[in-house]
Amino acid sequence: MPLNRPVLSERMQAIEDMVLPGLPLADIGTDHGMIPADILLKGICPYAVLTDINPGPLEKCRENLKAFGVDPSKYSIIQGDGLDPVGDGGFGTVITAGMGGELIISIFEETGWSTERPEGVPLARRFVVQPRTHADDLRSYLTEAEFRLCDYKLAKERGRICEVFAVEPCGAGELRPDSGLVSEFLLAKNDPLILEFLDGKIRKACRIADDASASDRPDAKDASELWRAVASQLEEIRRNL
Ligand SMILES: C[S@@+](CC[C@H](N)C(=O)[O-])C[C@H]1O[C@@H](n2cnc3c(N)ncnc32)[C@H](O)[C@@H]1O
Repeated sequence: MPLNRPVLSERMQAIEDMVLPGLPLADIGTDHGMIPADILLKGICPYAVLTDINPGPLEKCRENLKAFGVDPSKYSIIQGDGLDPVGDGGFGTVITAGMGGELIISIFEETGWSTERPEGVPLARRFVVQPRTHADDLRSYLTEAEFRLCDYKLAKERGRICEVFAVEPCGAGELRPDSGLVSEFLLAKNDPLILEFLDGKIRKACRIADDASASDRPDAKDASELWRAVASQLEEIRRNL
């Protein structure tokens, strides 16, 4: 049965909470369109562009927004790759959520790396990202390039802890690369899920180390030692919280 109002998971709510109010929004890879629909219905943003590379999700998105009664003058739905459909910029927030971290990096690199549009209009004041995988790579990539972290939250969805973070463009002198095993910015925030998050990371590192030591690959010993060292570093971080 179709929903008649958006239902946000904890992960989606965390994304919504990081959106800059009162300014236009773009949601890249919107799929069901649930996040921008809720934002528009609550009047958080005056206008939204919803994009997806695939026509199927956009069809579902169109049906959802109609069923939710979102005012059609407040949004556009555009099919396209990454940041291509929002090329003119001028957004308060651009959301890129629910995709692999590597895909989000490629979207930034290939379809809109520079936040400066040719006309000098910034693409957005803020980017809210939620990578499904490779979150550490995405965080390092963004904070080593032209962004600073301005918000970070752990949120659960279907039993899995997701990392949601927001970055804003900054000058080269203001860059604060955050490339460690766990974000320094997140550690400073005392997130309620931080212990569970670290425990999950420690378990994963130990599992990879065990698998490596049970394998007969030529690099098995090195890989196993490396992952044991990662687990130890994570345990140290946990102890120092
Ligand atoms: C798992 S859904 C995430 C939906 C929603 N953003 C969320 O966080 O709940 C990922 C969506 O990204 C779309 N997608 C994948 N690659 C894309 C790209 N290069 N540009 C735009 N959308 C893309 C997919 O078609 C899919 O609908």
